[in-house]
Amino acid sequence: MTSSTPRRDTLRFITCGSVDDGKSTLIGRLLHDAGAVPDDQVAALRDAEGRLDFSLLVDGLLAEREQGITIDVAYRYFSTPRRQFIVADTPGHEQYTRNMATGASTADAAVVLVDARKGVLTQTRRHSHIVSLLGVRHVVLAVTKMDMVAWSQDAFDAIAADYLAFAEAAGLPAPTVIPVSGVTGDNLVRRGEAAEWYAGPTLLEVLEGLPPIAETARPFRMAVQGVNRPNLDFRGYTGRINSGVVRVGDAVAVSPSGVRSHVERIVVMGGDLPQARAGQSVTLTFTDEIDVSRGDVLAAADAPLEAADQFEATLIWMAEAEMVSGRVYDLKIGARTVPAQITDIRHRVNVNTQEKLAARSLALNDIGVCHLSLGQDVAFEPYEVERELGAFILIDRLTRATVGAGMIRFALRRAHNIHRQAIKVDRNQRAALKGQKAAVVWLTGLSGSGKSTIANLVEERLTAEGRHAYLIDGDNLRHGLSRDLGFTEADRVENIRRAAEVARMMADAGLIVLVSLISPFRAERQMVRDMMPDDEFLEVFVDAPLAVAEARDVKGLYAKARRGEIANFTGVSSPYEPPAEPDLHLRTNQMSPDEAAEAVIARLRAARRLTASPPFEQPPLT
Ligand code: ADX
Repeated sequence: MTSSTPRRDTLRFITCGSVDDGKSTLIGRLLHDAGAVPDDQVAALRDAEGRLDFSLLVDGLLAEREQGITIDVAYRYFSTPRRQFIVADTPGHEQYTRNMATGASTADAAVVLVDARKGVLTQTRRHSHIVSLLGVRHVVLAVTKMDMVAWSQDAFDAIAADYLAFAEAAGLPAPTVIPVSGVTGDNLVRRGEAAEWYAGPTLLEVLEGLPPIAETARPFRMAVQGVNRPNLDFRGYTGRINSGVVRVGDAVAVSPSGVRSHVERIVVMGGDLPQARAGQSVTLTFTDEIDVSRGDVLAAADAPLEAADQFEATLIWMAEAEMVSGRVYDLKIGARTVPAQITDIRHRVNVNTQEKLAARSLALNDIGVCHLSLGQDVAFEPYEVERELGAFILIDRLTRATVGAGMIRFALRRAHNIHRQAIKVDRNQRAALKGQKAAVVWLTGLSGSGKSTIANLVEERLTAEGRHAYLIDGDNLRHGLSRDLGFTEADRVENIRRAAEVARMMADAGLIVLVSLISPFRAERQMVRDMMPDDEFLEVFVDAPLAVAEARDVKGLYAKARRGEIANFTGVSSPYEPPAEPDLHLRTNQMSPDEAAEAVIARLRAARRLTASPPFEQPPLT
């Protein structure tokens, strides 16, 4: 391209089809007829009679797999004198929502394929719905294999009417509908003669004619990807401008901190610019030394960006394992990753009928509207307004797999209205008054492993030493604070969350808190650890082999569980995930309860939680 060639804009589109509707043939033919396939490659694909199999073309072309939120999306590039195109091709297998979400989240348009012989299918409706959820504004319905129904206008009209009615009911963008054939190429790039009744545009004409995405009309926003500090005199913030225009001298506000300054320089490779616009990658410097970090978003000061830590969002669940309310996932929005919990599922969406269904969880490929609570404020824009600033993914903290993709609808009011109240007396003062340092000793293990026995002994000994301790016991908790909870995964997660919050408050009050809870899941134990100051938390694995715990069966519960009288019993019909690196590992089939308790006390001493001698003489225990 010479420098005098006007810059063509780029349209990204996704193709969605079901298994046998001729998607590869259609894309291959489109690329071929648009002149995007080199001649030698075409020649290689001719059979003995000189016919071309266009579906082979697609697989022969450069297919680039982008890693990121995920896997199976192939991107193909081609251009015409009017535009450049990037086609995201997503295979429609089992995990299709994941692939579609990847492809569609950056697409400007979607080409949805319908087989003329089959009409609008469930799959067609699902694809259309997801595409629209992901913010794709233009939909083209390509009715394929028209040659196989002899270019019947009646067949075409019936499908078009069916789809238009569905799109309207579902609130989807009104589509352009085109009769095509991948095999003959009619109405893809050149007008077909077979359907003389069709007077509309070809597929390529539609794709070339879609209005460009007017990112510059919106206020300036740029997510900071990196801080550039080559020497002490230069401190720049790098990123790609999401929307709007920025000029030297403009006032900008940093989100979420709210700090303001003015743009001093706009630096690009090869020099400075007086202004830059959406889509450009730049480094900005400011007139003041302000604190900006990766993941912050810069915005025009007269249209600052919201920040919040609670959202309502649409979530597409992508993992085999069901979503668990209350579990902590990592939420990645732009360049920032923060811990987040799903606090509430408002409803699940039936993508066929648009019905809102009650739901307690989301399974693979489910779409739901949820409330999320984040560990800290993040800058955002509703997804509807700016996709890049309103989209996030959820990551499993242990496996690091992407388990969900979300689109922020709006911040919850609560996030703005509830502030933390500053309290003057601090936790260290409270602990010092008691002559100790606060600690949370978290005992985890199977039912019957010995947690409560050990915790009781430890509390007795601490008390005898004049320490201030308190034991939170799982069984007791379930008689009061957690009376409403059972033993499903979600209920246990909630039980552990409550115990952790209470333990944190008690540690805040300066106590040595002992918690005895099966707490079978690593994710939640990690959550508890993250809630407490580093040196205050001790995870103690009370380890008895299942056979040993079961043989003890103090409460007779294992016997009942084996008889099928108790559901979800840990070790029998519900998993226990042992700690990988506990602070203390007690093998209770190899030591006495006294030895185990002594080991806990020794560990507390080693962690310097029991340093100063207790201030008061204690009456001896009776
Ligand atoms: S946790 O999984 O949520 O941490 P928690 O420690 O509170 O469990 O409660 C476990 C106690 O409840 C056990 O000691 C046992 O006495 C009783 N229990 C009743 N049903 C179950 C069950 N299905 N699984 C495990 N424990 C059960």
